[in-house]
Amino acid sequence: MSFPEGFLWGGALAANQAEGAWNVGGKGPSVADVATYKPDADVKDYKAHVFMSMDAIQKAMKDTDDIGYPKRRGIDFYHHYKEDLALFAEMGFKVLRLSIAWSRIFPTGEEAEPNEEGLAFYEEVLKEMRRLNIEPLVTLSHYEMPLHLATKYNGWTDRRVVEYFVRFAKACFDRFGKYVKYWLNFNEVDSIIRHPFTTAGIVPELCGEKGDLACCYQALHHQLVAAGIAAKILHEQWPKAQMGCMLTKLMTYPRTCAPEDVAVTQKKNLENMFYADVQVFGEYPRMILRDLEKHGFEIKMETGDLEILKEGTVDFVSFSYYMSMTESVDPNAERTPGNTVLGVKNPYLESSDWGWQVDPVGLRISLIELYDRYRKPLFIVENGIGAKDTVEADGSVHDPYRIEYFRRHFKEMERAIDDGVELMGYTSWAPIDLISASTNQMSKRYGFIYVDQDDMGNGTLKRSRKDSFYWYQKVIRSNGADMD
Ligand code: BG6
Repeated sequence: MSFPEGFLWGGALAANQAEGAWNVGGKGPSVADVATYKPDADVKDYKAHVFMSMDAIQKAMKDTDDIGYPKRRGIDFYHHYKEDLALFAEMGFKVLRLSIAWSRIFPTGEEAEPNEEGLAFYEEVLKEMRRLNIEPLVTLSHYEMPLHLATKYNGWTDRRVVEYFVRFAKACFDRFGKYVKYWLNFNEVDSIIRHPFTTAGIVPELCGEKGDLACCYQALHHQLVAAGIAAKILHEQWPKAQMGCMLTKLMTYPRTCAPEDVAVTQKKNLENMFYADVQVFGEYPRMILRDLEKHGFEIKMETGDLEILKEGTVDFVSFSYYMSMTESVDPNAERTPGNTVLGVKNPYLESSDWGWQVDPVGLRISLIELYDRYRKPLFIVENGIGAKDTVEADGSVHDPYRIEYFRRHFKEMERAIDDGVELMGYTSWAPIDLISASTNQMSKRYGFIYVDQDDMGNGTLKRSRKDSFYWYQKVIRSNGADMD
């Protein structure tokens, strides 16, 4: 069995990493707009790298240009979207995942009415996608909440943010519902624990004595409630639309077959999946609640919250998959960086230029595990390799390493489908070079399309096709039959 007919091949973007135009069209600043260029971030101390202080936020807001804040300029998708969509259509995209910048619609998050210019922008993008027969897959929240909600309320720790988010989601459903069938609520909902500011606008110093981890779990509960309300509204308003959850699939193997290593790994995997568990099953796993209780974290719930979780479950499960790692109880085991995580090194795997361990078989294992657990259609909405590309004298970019990465992952997807996994589609991260989320680098390139811009923002922004562009075009055209 090969890829099913109608398989949704495409790519994925996020507004904050692609659009630029951070203060254009009435857009308010978002948490992404204060993120600084950090090429030398100590990946082994990820917290120090992503935690934001009020001082750092205030300093960033005094700087009104984009020097040092690459996400403010992105790749200027805001002004280039027609050209970019045309290139995606040329590759044969059936689907494009993109996100709506919340602060383009509600600049501070607190406004009673949405910003018309922001709505109009996305409506034009969606219309153009429909014209090109590209199905939109829209993420409501991808690391870009209004900065004002972070500084005033300490982000999602405050219950009032639920209402502001629901207002935003509703404005999106009202205006874009006629163009969009597939929605995602929170990008990598589990990432709140790893980078609380980016994901939920949490400034640790505002958390007080209870500490940032307690804030994170409270904020997470608010996000899960907001996701439940949003799903319910969507289903009532647009009965044919579907809502998905989105998980970072952090595949972890035991470092050895010592039962202690297996047990610690099992815990890690359960902790990773519990975010999706809540959104699929409509309830918190008992063992997770027990664990939080043991650590002294008490989630404050309001009357009706448990019903909201039950009634607002998702229709499909989406996830990002980049790498795998191992776990061990041995404190001396060598650790290695991954997608904002540190895991124990796997001697059987090679790593990317950024040290992420490449593991195509882990994708197959993840697909089988998630499908068996949830019995819901799956959607791979991020997968790809950040690499340093070289532009040849004639302007071409030869990227056999990228083609190889995708080919190996696609083969494993095919095997999982053959084993009976229901896979709706696949969107690569990212089909066009853009600003990396963690280090804010342009030089960490993911695309099939090269963008002429360096880390400092120099360049013409000209788009050009890499070798992988033609390869992916061929894969899509043959619905995965031709991967040579
Ligand atoms: C995912 C995020 O975790 O990883 C994306 O959803 C991000 O926003 C991607 O870009 C790759 O990470 P990075 O840091 O290499 O851009």
